[in-house]
Amino acid sequence: MTADGGFRDRLGYFHDTPAGPPLSAKLEDRVPVTVNLHVCTTCRMGQPIADDETRPGARLLAALERAGAPEGVRILPVECLSACDHGCNITLSGPGRWSYVYRGLDPDLHVAEILAGAAAYAASSDGIVPWRDRPVVFRKQSLARIPPMEI
Ligand code: FES
Repeated sequence: MTADGGFRDRLGYFHDTPAGPPLSAKLEDRVPVTVNLHVCTTCRMGQPIADDETRPGARLLAALERAGAPEGVRILPVECLSACDHGCNITLSGPGRWSYVYRGLDPDLHVAEILAGAAAYAASSDGIVPWRDRPVVFRKQSLARIPPMEI
């Protein structure tokens, strides 16, 4: 910074406004990392469901949306995760993170645990949440984890 409050950039040009933090730091402050919580809306939980009846997967999505997504988590519907025999299924994924598939979830029992687990996932840098910090349903009902695309 110069005596008159401006600064010279790397090329020596004078700017009369104070230098701020690097652009990347500003962006990180303003744009929280967003992870996706996909909820299969077509899951039947192994029950016979009439065509005009709301499926358990759709009830799980509605319950999660009613409870509200934690900061940095985006709740999205998806039709079928190819894990149909395992009940209500969800995934957690995000840039630079391991992805997880969770199975056998119940819209009447697991909403709070799913949201707590999603919040912990969003707060992690690589998607790997320490075992003791995972909700019990995530410890017991993980169907798969998938490595990040980035190397
Ligand atoms: S219908 Fe939900 S995983 Fe296939």
